[in-house]
Amino acid sequence: MDKVINIRHIADITALSITTVSRVLNGYSKQFRISEATTQRVLEVAKELNYTPNQIAQSLRLKRTNTIGLMVPDIGNPFFANMAKIITAESANRGYSVILTASNDNYKIEKELLSLLISRNVDALIMIPCGKEKKHIEAVSKRGIPILFLDRYLENSTIPFITTDNYEGAYDITRYLISNGHRKIACVQGAPDTVPNNRRVKGFIDAFIANKIRCDYSITGKDFSIENGYIETKLLLSRQKEERPTAIFALSTMTLLGVLKAINESRLTIPDDISVVSFDNQPFLEYLNPSITCVAQPVEEISKLAIEKLIDGLDQKQSVLANLFIKPTIIFRDSVKMQLPSRSGDEISL
Ligand code: RIB
Repeated sequence: MDKVINIRHIADITALSITTVSRVLNGYSKQFRISEATTQRVLEVAKELNYTPNQIAQSLRLKRTNTIGLMVPDIGNPFFANMAKIITAESANRGYSVILTASNDNYKIEKELLSLLISRNVDALIMIPCGKEKKHIEAVSKRGIPILFLDRYLENSTIPFITTDNYEGAYDITRYLISNGHRKIACVQGAPDTVPNNRRVKGFIDAFIANKIRCDYSITGKDFSIENGYIETKLLLSRQKEERPTAIFALSTMTLLGVLKAINESRLTIPDDISVVSFDNQPFLEYLNPSITCVAQPVEEISKLAIEKLIDGLDQKQSVLANLFIKPTIIFRDSVKMQLPSRSGDEISL
């Protein structure tokens, strides 16, 4: 009976560690940056010793699969659906396919999907993380699999990111409301455990502070959903008339839809009774009556940049250098009306 060949025999013959031999035979040469020469030496000795064929087959998983793993929080959200569409098309232009997954804003599902994508031997990953946990993601990065955060990122993480300058977009559109005389402005926020939301909130607040404006502002809400926008706006409009906001800033398109539903039910009109602006642009905002003024994220630009950085990094065998903030633009439409300042001394030049 042939002697059973195991990893130790191969390690002895090649004078390599068992760990190195195991990593080669399990197809992790690339992730652990084991040289081509060492990899081929291990495979040759394994074949000479008639090492188990299926393990050799596994270790031949050295060449790329030309596949990118993409994980978004909610594929039903038009923002992420559009992002996935651009990434898929741009990847195809570079000869890559995309395995699209959705974490449903659930950390446990995110962890499971991360393992699934690794098991499918994706060459790289684009992730929009659903929360603040980063250890499981950084562990995969440490194995040499390139990962890039897009849109949402995790502060104090080693994972590079490409995102919109959320702070600047929120700051500028709030200044626009202030320049139109609004002094009672309500911000209906999204998920407080996401960096984009918190940067928008900071930009909203700093617009008053930087311009030394006395303003009754409020920040309420808990997620980027239609229901959140609806409930928070119902509460805002239930206030006494003199306490009601003259403008509402919805921090995403889905939130905006809830805001609009609540305003319509209240029989108030936009912008005569209340002005509305939102963060994120979608084509249908142009066709609402009135059309909605909003901050448009450079979704196409950041998505294409992510693919370019990842695939160029794979081609040049170098890590992805990013941490980019891309400037958004404001699209001025018909949902904001000039509000005459109610108190003297509020006038400002912007
Ligand atoms: O609608 C989803 C929101 O969360 C968008 O504004 C996007 O930036 C994401 O982070």
